Order: sequence, then structure tokens, then C-alpha cells
Amino acid sequence: MTGFGKESAEIVRAARSGEYKVGMILGSGLGSLATEVEGAVRVPYCRLTGFPVSSVTAHASELVVGTLEGVPVVILSGRAHYYESGNPSIMRTPLETLKELGCEIIIATNAAGSLRESTQPGSPMLINDHINWSGMNPLIGEEDESRFLDLSSAYDADLRAQLNKAATEVGEDLDEGVYMWFSGPSFETPAEIRLAQTLGADAVGMSTVPEVILARFLGMRVAAISTITNMGAGLQAHGLSHDETKEMAPLGAAKIKKILRAFLKNMA
Ligand code: HPA
Repeated sequence: MTGFGKESAEIVRAARSGEYKVGMILGSGLGSLATEVEGAVRVPYCRLTGFPVSSVTAHASELVVGTLEGVPVVILSGRAHYYESGNPSIMRTPLETLKELGCEIIIATNAAGSLRESTQPGSPMLINDHINWSGMNPLIGEEDESRFLDLSSAYDADLRAQLNKAATEVGEDLDEGVYMWFSGPSFETPAEIRLAQTLGADAVGMSTVPEVILARFLGMRVAAISTITNMGAGLQAHGLSHDETKEMAPLGAAKIKKILRAFLKNMA
């Protein structure tokens, strides 16, 4: 089972040639980083074979190639989520495309709800592990033994150390924790949030986990950072809304952008 990564990578190469080292998946609030890419060429997802077009407001749908802090990057500005189609491997072709374009490292970002008093809305959180309690997996249907993927160190320890170092250099606090994937699109109930806390989660969200599994499956090293937009259901006085996610995401995202720029600068 493969997607259309080769075909899409050819289309991108025809638009801008080159090898790219780092691939980034930009979630809510981070989209502006794609506008800062130097020598950028933008390819709308609708021109790329096998790419999904996200229906979520605040998500663009374009692939951007160029450099950031001197590092050749491919940016997926906007992702499709499981809840849009019911397909956990909806991001297969985009990730294959990054791999084909030479990316060895994937940095995923997302918006998430915090389950921890000490990690408040507006903070970035570096993901150090995940819980997939959903019963879904993008590798279901894979036919050979590569499907028995080891996720013991899915979130690369070296990359986490480099991101922590970058955060210190730019004077930003960077909490670390476990991200638990819920399918969405409804938010969790307070009882589900208590369950997530009991299971050891520090944050919850509706994305990233399927992409991390696919990226590891394709042999890429992965780091992921959440922008915390709210406390989990029942942990804050008011209810949850997508408007709040959109309003709050840029706060943590501004900090994540600083950290990512410092991280890339150190890599250049
Ligand atoms: N739950 C799930 N997804 C989210 C949340 C949340 O609380 N906040 C932002 N994305």
C-alpha cells in the first residue's frame, strides 16, 4: 500500500529543484511560518496528486518549499485530520512526498488542550511520547512485516535535546509531555479528560499521532510541539470551542516559531 509521494514530489521538483532536509507540518496558529520562507515556491495541495484538502478553517492547504534560517525546508501548511474523512492514513501521500524530497526530519505542530495546571494556554509543549487509545492506526492494511513498527522512541531524543537547547537560547520555557490522540471532531468530555489524566497524558488533541506513525514508518526522525490553546474539558471555567483554539493558537505559536528558527539556525 503506497500513496502518490513519487508523483507529487516530481511536481514539486518541477516547481523548485533541490534536496530538502527538514519537513514541517504546520497546525493551527503556525501557518504564518510558511509566509516567512525565503525563496519560497508554493504549490496548492489541489495541484498535488493524492493530497487532501483540509476543510478546517485556519488551515491553509499548500506545500511551501524554500529555506528558513538557511536550511532547505518543505512545509506542509495545513493538514487533513482523521475526523474529516475517517481515514487514518489521509496524510500518507504528503509524508511520502517529504521523504521523496529528501527530508530526514519531520517537525509536526498542533493545537492541544492541556491536562496539567502547570502548562497553561499560550504555552508551547514539546511532545515526548503519545497515547493512541483510538483503535485507529494508519498502518492497518499494510501487508509486510514493516507494519510491526517500533514506537519505543518515536519522538527523537536528539531532536528534543536540540529543541530544548534552542528554547533556552531564545529565553522561552518549553514544557514537555505526553500527547493523547482523540479522534474528534467533538471535544472530549470531562470524564474522558479525567481518563486521559489517569492514563498519563499531559495534553490532548485531534491530530499528529497518525502522521508521526507514518513518518516513523517511512524512516524519518520526528519531533512534535503543541501550542496549548485551552485547558481540557472540565478543567477550565468555560466550555471549549474551535473559536478559542483559533484565537489562542497564535500565542504559543509565536514562541514555537522563535524556538524553531533557533533550532534551524543551529542546524545550518
Ligand atoms: N481537545 C482536543 N483537541 C484540541 C483541544 C482540546 O482540548 N484544544 C485544541 N485542540
